[in-house]
Amino acid sequence: MPRQLIAGNWKMNGLSVPGARLAGAIREAVSAAPPPCDLLICPPFTLVGTLAHVMLGSGVAVGAQDCHAKVAGPHTGDVSAAMLKDAGATAVILGHSERRTDHGETDAEVRAKAAAALAAGLVPIVCVGETWPEREAGRQEAVVAAQLAGSLPDGFAGTGVVAYEPVWAIGTGRTPTEADIAAMHAMIRRVLGERFGAAGGRVLILYGGSVKPANAAAILALPEVGGALVGGASLVAEDFLAIAAAAQV
Ligand code: 13P
Repeated sequence: MPRQLIAGNWKMNGLSVPGARLAGAIREAVSAAPPPCDLLICPPFTLVGTLAHVMLGSGVAVGAQDCHAKVAGPHTGDVSAAMLKDAGATAVILGHSERRTDHGETDAEVRAKAAAALAAGLVPIVCVGETWPEREAGRQEAVVAAQLAGSLPDGFAGTGVVAYEPVWAIGTGRTPTEADIAAMHAMIRRVLGERFGAAGGRVLILYGGSVKPANAAAILALPEVGGALVGGASLVAEDFLAIAAAAQV
C-alpha cells in the first residue's frame, strides 16, 4: 500500500506573514520528527509560490485549491494548472463542494480541470460527497457514484486522488459514523476498479470533513481510507501534525 496522504486545505485563509509562519512551523516539526505519511498543504493561490519555496527539500508538498481547464488565454482572474506547476505546486484540489456551490462547478468542468492538471503534471485531488438531504434520502452512494463517473477523466488512476467529503460534515464538527465512512470508501473503491481496472485499486481515497486530532486515528484506520483532507485543523500546526502522526503505516 502507498503511504497515507494528509492534505491541508487552507481555503481562503492565509496572509503572507502568518501563512509563512504556519508553513515554517510545519517544516520545522517535520524535519525534527518525520511523520509516517505524505504531507501536502494547499494555501490560497497568492501563497503557492512562496510556500513552495519555504517547503523546498522538506518533503512537504504544496498544492492549490483550483485551476482552470485551459493552459492559457483570455480568462481574467483564472489560474492554469501549468501556472501552478510553474509556481512549485505538485497537486491541486478540484471540485471541492465549496466551489461546486459558490461557483456552480459541474462534474464536466471538474473533469476538464482534472484532465488539465494531469496534462500539466499535477496530482488532481477530486472531491465528491453528498449533502445531508441526499444522505437522509438514502441517495448518498448514487450521488457519489454519479460524481465519480462525471468528474474523473480517463487516465485519472495512477496519478489522481479522490477525496470523499460529505458536504454536511465540512466545518460542522459532525462526521459520518465509522461504518458509514467505510461503506462509502468501499463503494468508491468498487467504482474505481470497474472504471480503471487494477490501477483503480491503487488510487488513494481520502476522507474529509471535520477531521481533528481526536478522531483522526479512528478514521485513518478504516479500510480503504488512504488519508485525510483537512480544513480547519490544517490551520493550526500542532493539530495538523497530530493528525499526520495518526496516519497508518
Ligand atoms: P473541515 O476539516 O474544516 O471540516 O473542512 C474539510 C474540507 O472541506 C477540506 O477540504
